[in-house]
Amino acid sequence: AECWVFLHREVLRKKHLKDVHLQQVSVRRFASFNLFSIEDQNTEEETGTWVQYRSIFYPKYSVSLRFHNGLLNVKDVLTSFDNTGNVCLWPSEEVLAYYCLKHNEIFRDLAVCELGGGMTCLAGLMVAISADVKEVLLTDGNEKAIKNVNEIITRNQNAGVFKAQKVSSCILRWDNETDVSQLEGHFDIVMCADCLFLDQYRASLVDAIKRLLQPSGKAMVFAPLRGNTLNQFCNLAEKAGFSIQRHENYDEHISNFHSKLKNEEKDTYEENLHYPFLLILTKQR
Ligand SMILES: C[S@@+](CC[C@H](N)C(=O)[O-])C[C@H]1O[C@@H](n2cnc3c(N)ncnc32)[C@H](O)[C@@H]1O
Repeated sequence: AECWVFLHREVLRKKHLKDVHLQQVSVRRFASFNLFSIEDQNTEEETGTWVQYRSIFYPKYSVSLRFHNGLLNVKDVLTSFDNTGNVCLWPSEEVLAYYCLKHNEIFRDLAVCELGGGMTCLAGLMVAISADVKEVLLTDGNEKAIKNVNEIITRNQNAGVFKAQKVSSCILRWDNETDVSQLEGHFDIVMCADCLFLDQYRASLVDAIKRLLQPSGKAMVFAPLRGNTLNQFCNLAEKAGFSIQRHENYDEHISNFHSKLKNEEKDTYEENLHYPFLLILTKQR
């Protein structure tokens, strides 16, 4: 909800400018799981605004994020590759980010990659600020998203908040042979949030995860059911030789909040679209 409010304010501001090249594209309507607070940093730029995103449960952890203002150039929407990650942070990303903070000890000395992290790669950033991790690579297939992530990295690097030895970002398309082969077998953990619903790219996502991971590596995937799409992903992953643990209840706070939302926010909360499941994928030996 916070994110929605924030974007809405931006939309109103831009409306005054009567910029005919901008239009609002879909913004999620529900809600977050109340895992992060957002403080405005009062530094608005042409393309977005800087905010401080702070974990509510682990408040010593916060990062500066820049959000696009929720308005995309019509030309960009029509011509550039998948813009779903440029609009807003989705609940799965917040849940993954929270989960990484909660379990930050599992990343010790590991190489971690986030796939399809969108315009913030919040989860990968949380690993980078909280864990004694060797390396974090933040990726997405969308160029604009990665430009934004680069700026976010620089700003947080300057603020000295990273604990990780190395934090970087690059465009990584799951269906691009060169992107994937350059990093083949490099990672101990690959993670992603809400990336399973793209019918066209599901098989390449499975393939990319498999190839990016070293033999004993694991993938951590959060995504809502979104119809049958999570199941379809699991089927493909099993065929590709992964064994999968599927968790519906992985955290007490989130389970409780989920029940509360189901009862009290019937109009905006749709379990099918909003409640993230956790999948842990392991390569079978
Ligand atoms: C629904 S968004 C999720 C973004 C972010 N993880 C979140 O939950 O807020 C899906 C993301 O996948 C990225 N994506 C889609 N297809 C891709 C592909 N073939 N290769 C790499 N990234 C892709 C999009 O650019 C987008 O950022």
